[in-house]
Amino acid sequence: KPAANEGKATVLKVGTEPSFAPFEFQDEKSKDYVGFDMDLIRAIGKQMGAEVEIQSMGFDGLIPALEAGNIDVAVSGMTITEERAQKVNFSKPYYKSGLTVVVKTGNNTIKGFGDLEGKKIGAQIGTTGAEEAKKIKNAQVREFNTPPEAFMELKAGGVDAVINDKPVNDYFMKETGSKDAQQVGEPLTAEDYGIAMSKKNTELADKINKALDELKQNGEYDKIYEKWFGK
Ligand code: ARG
Repeated sequence: KPAANEGKATVLKVGTEPSFAPFEFQDEKSKDYVGFDMDLIRAIGKQMGAEVEIQSMGFDGLIPALEAGNIDVAVSGMTITEERAQKVNFSKPYYKSGLTVVVKTGNNTIKGFGDLEGKKIGAQIGTTGAEEAKKIKNAQVREFNTPPEAFMELKAGGVDAVINDKPVNDYFMKETGSKDAQQVGEPLTAEDYGIAMSKKNTELADKINKALDELKQNGEYDKIYEKWFGK
Protein backbone atom coordinates (compact mmCIF):
# COMPACT_ATOMS: atom_id res chain seq x y z
CA LYS A 1 0.00 0.00 0.00
CA PRO A 2 1.56 3.33 -0.98
CA ALA A 3 2.16 5.86 1.77
CA ALA A 4 -0.33 8.70 1.89
CA ASN A 5 2.33 11.27 1.20
CA GLU A 6 3.96 9.36 -1.63
CA GLY A 7 5.42 11.66 -4.25
CA LYS A 8 5.02 14.70 -2.04
CA ALA A 9 7.96 16.25 -0.26
CA THR A 10 7.67 16.54 3.51
CA VAL A 11 6.97 20.09 4.51
CA LEU A 12 8.80 21.76 7.36
CA LYS A 13 6.62 24.59 8.68
CA VAL A 14 8.83 27.36 10.03
CA GLY A 15 7.69 30.27 12.17
CA THR A 16 9.72 33.45 12.58
CA GLU A 17 9.39 37.07 13.63
CA PRO A 18 11.13 38.76 10.70
CA SER A 19 12.20 42.16 11.98
CA PHE A 20 15.49 40.91 13.33
CA ALA A 21 18.18 41.62 10.77
CA PRO A 22 20.60 40.06 9.99
CA PHE A 23 18.91 36.87 11.27
CA GLU A 24 15.48 37.26 9.69
CA PHE A 25 14.04 40.14 7.72
CA GLN A 26 12.08 40.79 4.56
CA ASP A 27 13.94 41.65 1.38
CA GLU A 28 12.52 44.97 0.21
CA LYS A 29 12.28 43.96 -3.44
CA SER A 30 11.48 40.27 -3.47
CA LYS A 31 9.57 40.30 -0.14
CA ASP A 32 11.35 37.00 0.62
CA TYR A 33 12.43 36.24 4.16
CA VAL A 34 16.19 36.50 4.20
CA GLY A 35 19.01 36.41 6.74
CA PHE A 36 21.31 34.03 8.58
CA ASP A 37 18.51 32.02 10.20
CA MET A 38 16.55 31.82 6.96
CA ASP A 39 19.55 30.53 5.00
CA LEU A 40 20.33 28.09 7.79
CA ILE A 41 16.85 26.59 8.02
CA ARG A 42 16.59 26.35 4.21
CA ALA A 43 19.90 24.48 4.20
CA ILE A 44 18.69 22.22 7.02
CA GLY A 45 15.47 21.53 5.10
CA LYS A 46 17.44 20.63 2.00
CA GLN A 47 19.66 18.32 4.03
CA MET A 48 16.58 16.61 5.48
CA GLY A 49 14.80 16.42 2.12
CA ALA A 50 12.00 18.66 3.36
CA GLU A 51 10.34 21.62 1.73
CA VAL A 52 10.67 24.70 3.94
CA GLU A 53 7.62 26.95 4.34
CA ILE A 54 8.24 30.13 6.30
CA GLN A 55 5.53 32.09 8.04
CA SER A 56 5.74 35.31 9.97
CA MET A 57 4.25 35.85 13.42
CA GLY A 58 4.78 37.84 16.59
CA PHE A 59 7.80 36.74 18.64
CA ASP A 60 5.63 36.00 21.66
CA GLY A 61 3.39 33.85 19.44
CA LEU A 62 6.10 31.40 18.38
CA ILE A 63 6.09 29.08 21.40
CA PRO A 64 2.25 28.95 21.53
CA ALA A 65 2.26 28.15 17.77
CA LEU A 66 4.68 25.26 18.41
CA GLU A 67 2.57 23.99 21.29
CA ALA A 68 -0.57 24.17 19.14
CA GLY A 69 1.17 22.30 16.30
CA ASN A 70 0.68 25.18 13.83
CA ILE A 71 4.39 25.23 13.03
CA ASP A 72 7.08 22.54 13.26
CA VAL A 73 10.01 24.75 14.19
CA ALA A 74 10.64 28.31 15.31
CA VAL A 75 13.80 29.85 13.89
CA SER A 76 13.94 33.37 15.16
CA GLY A 77 17.19 34.19 16.92
CA MET A 78 15.59 32.50 19.89
CA THR A 79 17.75 32.22 22.99
CA ILE A 80 17.78 28.86 24.71
CA THR A 81 16.48 29.53 28.22
CA GLU A 82 15.47 27.19 31.02
CA GLU A 83 11.99 28.66 31.12
CA ARG A 84 11.41 28.09 27.40
CA ALA A 85 12.98 24.63 27.54
CA GLN A 86 10.14 23.59 29.83
CA LYS A 87 7.70 24.21 26.99
CA VAL A 88 9.67 23.34 23.85
CA ASN A 89 12.67 21.32 22.71
CA PHE A 90 15.73 23.14 21.47
CA SER A 91 18.25 22.01 18.90
CA LYS A 92 21.92 22.21 19.72
CA PRO A 93 23.04 25.86 19.99
CA TYR A 94 23.78 27.36 16.56
CA TYR A 95 24.84 30.94 17.35
CA LYS A 96 26.44 32.74 20.32
CA SER A 97 24.82 36.03 21.21
CA GLY A 98 24.23 38.43 24.11
CA LEU A 99 22.40 41.61 25.06
CA THR A 100 23.56 45.21 24.76
CA VAL A 101 22.17 48.67 25.38
CA VAL A 102 21.46 51.24 22.67
CA VAL A 103 20.97 54.93 23.56
CA LYS A 104 20.47 58.12 21.59
CA THR A 105 23.57 59.75 20.15
CA GLY A 106 24.93 62.29 22.60
CA ASN A 107 23.53 60.59 25.70
CA ASN A 108 26.46 60.79 28.11
CA THR A 109 24.74 59.49 31.21
CA ILE A 110 23.94 55.92 30.16
CA LYS A 111 27.20 54.10 29.58
CA GLY A 112 25.97 50.56 30.02
CA PHE A 113 23.64 48.27 31.96
CA GLY A 114 24.76 49.78 35.27
CA ASP A 115 23.19 53.16 34.45
CA LEU A 116 19.66 52.00 33.69
CA GLU A 117 18.11 52.28 37.15
CA GLY A 118 14.88 54.32 37.04
CA LYS A 119 15.10 54.78 33.26
CA LYS A 120 12.55 54.26 30.52
CA ILE A 121 13.62 51.15 28.67
CA GLY A 122 12.31 49.71 25.42
CA ALA A 123 12.56 46.09 24.27
CA GLN A 124 10.78 43.62 22.03
CA ILE A 125 7.86 41.85 23.69
CA GLY A 126 8.59 38.32 24.92
CA THR A 127 12.35 38.58 24.52
CA THR A 128 15.25 38.06 26.91
CA GLY A 129 15.93 41.80 26.49
CA ALA A 130 12.49 42.59 27.93
CA GLU A 131 13.10 40.10 30.77
CA GLU A 132 16.39 41.76 31.68
CA ALA A 133 14.81 45.21 31.51
CA LYS A 134 12.17 44.14 34.03
CA LYS A 135 14.88 43.15 36.51
CA ILE A 136 16.29 46.68 36.61
CA LYS A 137 15.32 48.68 39.68
CA ASN A 138 12.56 51.25 39.15
CA ALA A 139 12.84 50.97 35.40
CA GLN A 140 9.75 51.73 33.32
CA VAL A 141 9.72 49.02 30.69
CA ARG A 142 7.90 49.47 27.41
CA GLU A 143 7.52 46.43 25.19
CA PHE A 144 7.28 46.82 21.44
CA ASN A 145 6.14 44.33 18.81
CA THR A 146 9.47 44.61 16.99
CA PRO A 147 12.97 45.95 17.74
CA PRO A 148 12.73 48.59 14.94
CA GLU A 149 9.70 50.05 16.72
CA ALA A 150 11.71 50.28 19.94
CA PHE A 151 14.51 52.05 18.04
CA MET A 152 12.00 54.51 16.56
CA GLU A 153 10.74 55.34 20.01
CA LEU A 154 14.33 55.85 21.18
CA LYS A 155 14.84 58.34 18.36
CA ALA A 156 11.57 60.07 19.27
CA GLY A 157 12.70 60.36 22.89
CA GLY A 158 9.97 58.14 24.35
CA VAL A 159 12.50 55.74 25.87
CA ASP A 160 16.01 56.38 27.23
CA ALA A 161 17.50 53.06 26.15
CA VAL A 162 16.75 49.89 24.22
CA ILE A 163 17.93 46.45 25.33
CA ASN A 164 18.30 44.06 22.43
CA ASP A 165 20.57 41.35 21.01
CA LYS A 166 24.11 42.55 20.21
CA PRO A 167 24.42 41.19 16.65
CA VAL A 168 21.11 42.84 15.75
CA ASN A 169 22.19 46.11 17.37
CA ASP A 170 25.51 45.91 15.50
CA TYR A 171 23.66 45.49 12.22
CA PHE A 172 21.21 48.28 13.02
CA MET A 173 24.07 50.65 13.88
CA LYS A 174 25.89 49.76 10.68
CA GLU A 175 22.88 49.95 8.36
CA THR A 176 20.71 52.77 9.62
CA GLY A 177 21.10 53.81 13.20
CA SER A 178 24.56 55.26 13.60
CA LYS A 179 23.47 58.90 13.22
CA ASP A 180 20.77 58.72 15.84
CA ALA A 181 21.92 55.98 18.17
CA GLN A 182 24.96 54.48 19.84
CA GLN A 183 25.61 51.12 21.42
CA VAL A 184 27.15 51.32 24.90
CA GLY A 185 28.79 49.07 27.45
CA GLU A 186 29.72 45.44 27.56
CA PRO A 187 27.28 42.67 26.60
CA LEU A 188 25.28 41.69 29.68
CA THR A 189 24.67 38.03 29.01
CA ALA A 190 26.04 35.21 26.95
CA GLU A 191 23.14 33.61 25.13
CA ASP A 192 22.89 30.72 22.71
CA TYR A 193 20.36 30.64 19.91
CA GLY A 194 18.56 27.37 19.24
CA ILE A 195 15.89 26.09 16.90
CA ALA A 196 12.72 25.45 18.92
CA MET A 197 10.41 22.49 18.32
CA SER A 198 7.39 20.89 19.91
CA LYS A 199 8.18 18.50 22.74
CA LYS A 200 5.89 15.96 21.09
CA ASN A 201 8.16 15.58 18.07
CA THR A 202 11.39 14.07 19.42
CA GLU A 203 12.24 12.57 16.03
CA LEU A 204 12.38 16.02 14.51
CA ALA A 205 14.93 17.23 17.05
CA ASP A 206 17.22 14.33 16.08
CA LYS A 207 16.86 15.10 12.38
CA ILE A 208 17.48 18.83 12.85
CA ASN A 209 20.57 18.20 15.00
CA LYS A 210 21.90 15.71 12.49
CA ALA A 211 21.41 18.17 9.61
CA LEU A 212 23.05 20.93 11.67
CA ASP A 213 26.07 18.68 12.33
CA GLU A 214 26.34 17.82 8.65
CA LEU A 215 26.23 21.48 7.63
CA LYS A 216 28.99 22.26 10.12
CA GLN A 217 31.09 19.42 8.76
CA ASN A 218 30.60 20.12 5.06
CA GLY A 219 31.40 23.84 5.35
CA GLU A 220 27.90 25.06 4.48
CA TYR A 221 27.35 26.54 7.96
CA ASP A 222 30.60 28.53 7.66
CA LYS A 223 29.57 29.82 4.24
CA ILE A 224 26.26 31.08 5.57
CA TYR A 225 28.01 32.59 8.61
CA GLU A 226 30.51 34.45 6.46
CA LYS A 227 27.77 35.71 4.14
CA TRP A 228 26.07 37.53 7.02
CA PHE A 229 28.84 38.23 9.52
CA GLY A 230 32.08 38.18 7.55
CA LYS A 231 35.11 36.14 8.56
N1 ARG B 1 17.30 36.37 21.52
C1 ARG B 1 16.18 37.07 22.08
C2 ARG B 1 15.23 36.11 22.71
O1 ARG B 1 15.26 34.95 22.42
C3 ARG B 1 15.44 37.92 21.06
C4 ARG B 1 14.96 37.21 19.84
C5 ARG B 1 14.06 38.04 18.95
N2 ARG B 1 13.90 37.44 17.68
C6 ARG B 1 13.21 37.95 16.65
N3 ARG B 1 13.20 37.32 15.54
N4 ARG B 1 12.58 39.07 16.79
O2 ARG B 1 14.40 36.46 23.51
